[in-house]
Amino acid sequence: MPSIQVIGGEKLQGQLKIQGSKNGSLPILAATILNKGTTILRNCPKIIDVYNMIFILKELGCKATWEDEVLIIDAKDVNSTNVSQEFVKKMRSSVLFLGALLGRFKEVSISYPGGCSIGSRPIDLHLESFEQMNVQEIVENDMNTIKCKTDEIIGNSINLRFPSVGATQNIILAAVLATGTTNIINAAREPEIDELCHFLNLAGANIKGIGRSRIIIKGVEKLHDIDYTITADRIVAGTYMAAIAITLGDAVLLSAPTKHLKSTIKVFKKLGCKIDIDNECLRIRSNNKPKAINEIITKPYPGFPTDMQSQLMSLLCISDGKSIINEQIFESRFQNVYELNKMGAKLTIKDFNKVEINGVKRLKAANLEAHDLRGGAALVIAALSAEGESNIENISLIERGYVDIVSDLQTLGANIKYY
Ligand code: UD1
Repeated sequence: MPSIQVIGGEKLQGQLKIQGSKNGSLPILAATILNKGTTILRNCPKIIDVYNMIFILKELGCKATWEDEVLIIDAKDVNSTNVSQEFVKKMRSSVLFLGALLGRFKEVSISYPGGCSIGSRPIDLHLESFEQMNVQEIVENDMNTIKCKTDEIIGNSINLRFPSVGATQNIILAAVLATGTTNIINAAREPEIDELCHFLNLAGANIKGIGRSRIIIKGVEKLHDIDYTITADRIVAGTYMAAIAITLGDAVLLSAPTKHLKSTIKVFKKLGCKIDIDNECLRIRSNNKPKAINEIITKPYPGFPTDMQSQLMSLLCISDGKSIINEQIFESRFQNVYELNKMGAKLTIKDFNKVEINGVKRLKAANLEAHDLRGGAALVIAALSAEGESNIENISLIERGYVDIVSDLQTLGANIKYY
């Protein structure tokens, strides 16, 4: 596996088109199972997580083909409800096959999911919700396999104690073809939930309350074929905003999901960046080192996203004072602290979920290791501003979510290559 080599110091300039959304496409890939026919997906990013979802779909009996950039999935002949351990352990989103297979076949067997090393990430909310929809669950093989079964999925009112993105998506997937109406109270409001609902409604589902914390799903008999274009990735856009800002650059992101970036834009403005928006074009300029931020807290959407926390941390390393990052979504998302300190940053973990950042003048190059997807991208960002040549290893984690981060940053003038 190559590493990524970065020689810091180039100001990023020019323009770049933002890829399709990872977190938008993964639930939709699971949802294709619900239609006993063909789904055409455009702008689906060619990333490792998408390839892994396609492997699972094929294992279940779907046909999946790429015609250039268009992904065609034929789910007519699905002949299995067992999702095997190999891919499930690699990615958290495989848990969405629980809802999708239950919805279509009323039974599913799946291993406990894996994913990024950012906390324990249980699925109790998913399973408790299914139970309320008349689904029985058996956990087997020393807690390794979950089997869910029912005669009939029956809609219910489900009040989530926490607005979990995955649990909301799984309930929606199980409810679309269920008997009766399902109400999700305290549903997650992330744009990827809206996207799943829009996709399903276009395929014949009956979902109301999209974008609100109460989602109402009236079961329908079947879905039909659909040709759908995935929206752009808000976290990739935010990542490149951070890359441009840390190099004191001036660049334009094209096809950026600007309406989903409000909390990120607000924080970048506090850092001193100048941001102009024209529909889906976002220009970001930075003339000075970032300003320190008193405290930034990650929250469910529409709050500041946990998936942008690491990239912000890289930026704050060279800010003009002391900042605090307070991580409220995942309990173990500070693995970059050690890596960034190797670069001369002054970061200290406080009380498990807070990091104090004392800005330094400039970071120094170092040999770095990616520990999770967004954290890996954040190390690339830090290296872009550092003095000298940095190497980032374990880049397959970055490739889980970025089609080609090296080529994208080269387009903006970065001195970066695979090594
Ligand atoms: C999704 C995103 C991920 C993002 C996260 C929060 C995808 C593929 N992934 O992950 O990129 O960082 O939302 O915006 O879209 N929890 C429980 N029990 C459960 C479910 C969740 O305790 O049954 C906890 C988790 O441990 C975590 C928090 O809830 O602390 C948030 O998890 P959730 O919103 O479910 O995130 P994911 O769907 O895993």
